[in-house]
This record gives sequence, C-alpha cells and structure tokens, in this order.
Amino acid sequence: MARKSESKGDARGRNRPLRGALVGYGFISSQGHVPGYLQSARERGDVEIVAVADMTEARRLAAQQALPSARIYPDHRSLLAQEAGNLDFIDISTPPTVHARIAHDALDRGLHVFCEKPLATTLEDARSMLAHASRARRVLFPCHNYKHAGVVKAIREILSSGAIGRVQTVTLSTYRNTHAKGVAEWLPHWRRDRMLSGGGIAMDHGPHTFYLAFEWLASYPTSISARTITVDSDRYDTEDSFTATLTFPTGVASSFLTWKAGVRKVIYTIHGDRGAITVDDDDMQISVVKPPNGDPTASTKWTTERRSISSNWMDASHVTWFRSLFDEFKAAIDADDFVGKDALEAYLAVQLITTAYRSAALGGRDLPLATEFRSTETARAELESVRSDAE
Ligand SMILES: NC(=O)c1ccc[n+]([C@@H]2O[C@H](COP(=O)([O-])OP(=O)(O)OC[C@H]3O[C@@H](n4cnc5c(N)ncnc54)[C@H](O)[C@@H]3O)[C@@H](O)[C@H]2O)c1
Repeated sequence: MARKSESKGDARGRNRPLRGALVGYGFISSQGHVPGYLQSARERGDVEIVAVADMTEARRLAAQQALPSARIYPDHRSLLAQEAGNLDFIDISTPPTVHARIAHDALDRGLHVFCEKPLATTLEDARSMLAHASRARRVLFPCHNYKHAGVVKAIREILSSGAIGRVQTVTLSTYRNTHAKGVAEWLPHWRRDRMLSGGGIAMDHGPHTFYLAFEWLASYPTSISARTITVDSDRYDTEDSFTATLTFPTGVASSFLTWKAGVRKVIYTIHGDRGAITVDDDDMQISVVKPPNGDPTASTKWTTERRSISSNWMDASHVTWFRSLFDEFKAAIDADDFVGKDALEAYLAVQLITTAYRSAALGGRDLPLATEFRSTETARAELESVRSDAE
C-alpha cells in the first residue's frame, strides 16, 4: 500500500539531515559518493549516512573505517530490517544486475532510492522500478553525474543562449584504455561478466552518452542501429567497443565507446544550424557562423572562441560532480517528483541499450523504439496507467 509522502521520508519542513544508507561500498561509493556526502554533511549539515551493507567483508571493514558511526551489514535485507524506520533513502552502488531487487526492497520500506547507472539491465526491471516508485510515492533518482561536469554545464549555457542555433547533429565518443575496474577485494572485472554487468561498455557508459544526447538534441530518439565488438571474446562475454547511430525527431546522434583506446578521453561535437561546439576533455571550441557580407558567392566563415574548463575527467570517481547531483536528488524529494525526468531518461537509456544489443545481433539493423517515452508528458501518462493497473 502506498504511503503518503508526508511521512518521515519527506524533506518538506524537515529540520534534520536526510538519513541515508549505502548498499555496495566499492569504488564509486568509497571514492565518489561517501566523500561527497561527508563534505556536504560538514559544510551544510544536510545528510547523514547511518548504515552500509556490502557482501564483502573487506569492504565492510573499509566502510567502518570511513564511517565510524555507521552500522554495517552483510546484505541490504538485514540492513533494511534493522534500519528502514530510521532512514529516508538508500543509495545503491552495487553492480547493475542487482539494482532492481534492492530498489524494490527499499521502496517497499517507504524509502527514496538514489541509484547508480544503469538503472537496470532489462527493460522489464527498469519499468517495474519506475512503476513501483510512482505507486509508493517515493523518489527514484539515477546517478546521471555527467550532467554535472564543468564542460557539460558550459555546453548547457551556450545552447540556451542560442549561439549555435538549433542543434541537429551530435557525436559522442568516449575512449578508455581499459574497462573500468571494481575494487580489488570483490570482483574487479565484473564489467566483463554479463551475469553481473548485463553487458559491456554500452551498458556501462551508454546511459551517460544517451542522456547527454537527449539534452543536446532536445528530444528523444525514435530508432537506433548499433554494432558491438569484443576483441577479448576468448576471455570475456561483454563487448569492449560499441558504435551506434540514433535517429531523433530533431536530428541524429552518433556514438563510439571503447575500452580499447590508447588514452582516456571524451570527444563531443554538437552542431547547430548557426555553429558548433567541439569538446576534447577540458578544451572547448565554439564556432559561430559570421553574418553574410552581402556577397551570395562568398563561402561561409566562422568566428571561433576557445575555452578551457576544468572538469576532472581523469578522476573516474567524479567526486567533484557529486554535490549538484545530490542537490537534484534532494530537490526531487522536496518536490515529491517521484519519477521525474531523470528516472524517465534512465528508463529510456535501458531501452536504448537493450535495443542496441538486439540491433547488433541483427547485423546493425535500424530498430524502432517504442514511442511511449518520446516526451516527458506522454511518459508520465504511461506511468500513470502502469500505476493505476497495479492498484
Ligand atoms: N556514475 C559514474 O560515474 C560511475 C562510476 C563508476 C561506477 N558506477 C556504477 O556504480 C556501480 C558500482 O560500480 P563500482 O565500480 O563501484 O563497483 P565495485 O566492484 O568497485 O563495487 C561494488 C561493491 O558492491 C558490493 N556488492 C556486490 N553485490 C552486492 C550485493 N548484492 N549486496 C551488497 N553488496 C554488493 C561488492 O562487494 C563491492 O564492494 C555500478 O552500477 C557502476 O556502473 C558509476
């Protein structure tokens, strides 16, 4: 039975910090989330981490050292049994195939859920998570932290100024010299094991690529064609490189992701009808078409501005992006925005990844995407119907 949000989990009128518990104390939790929470607690007194669950003993010991006053559990169920009445939210930082199970258990206890990407590894799981959050009137919020990188914030400002006009083409390339490794005490290569990861670099990095493309093209895609490549197929069953072309009502996005690069890097290009932005890590180039000089035969000329914006791309924990991400989660709690735009986009990312894998299995065939989530409004209507069906 759904509980009203005016209970303990509601931030409105709350005069105490949000109380959270972590499930999974591995790389991103210990290097990204916990330092972010501790800084926020120190400077703003807005959050307290009261408990941690991790299935690996060495990680439980590490958690106890980092958070001496937190209570530590071997699994999320024992944590919820003891702590749920004392919590506002749960932070899920385990590998993706167990996100859904943990989220459902937390929502059943009336907790808000802050969940690492990808939200889930199957569309059914992602859909049931959104429906459950909507029914339970609790926030489901994905960690879409690339939205908070310095360069990405600068792109947002340039696009909203209209400087490059209407965006119609974007390319997003992410180069990594290896798959990201989890903590040594558990299974550092879990991203190369489909049972734990649900897929390779598309599952791991695709969500970041796709929500940036949605924002820059200001719409949601209608079809995708994709290819996957697994150079290490003798050892691993997840892809190490991925290419995709996404058709949008407003234009096209092309993406290349690889764990087989010579250097760690992002390269983005965003093309409008009056100019373009190109990004190479912190370096940004903004080209704007010069007004015509009256000569119809003259070739187009651009003015180009160069900027350098520190975004800490080399730090895989992205700890410097955490505060504004966490602020958005808190704002969603305050606004009762249970299944907001970010959750819908997390769902759509799972839809894109799973459709991309089907496309790759069909030799790269262009596959249509369900139209129900093309706009936030239709998505909300769809969710409302899921919710009423479930009640
Ligand atoms: N947003 C980002 O930039 C970013 C960066 C890195 C990782 N991530 C995401 O964070 C999540 C974790 O990745 P990581 O690199 O920190 O992995 P990791 O291997 O370093 O940590 C996972 C931890 O979870 C624990 N664990 C595994 N299954 C568990 C379960 N069922 N219950 C309790 N504990 C469990 C392990 O013991 C380990 O300590 C993934 O979803 C990943 O995609 C996001």
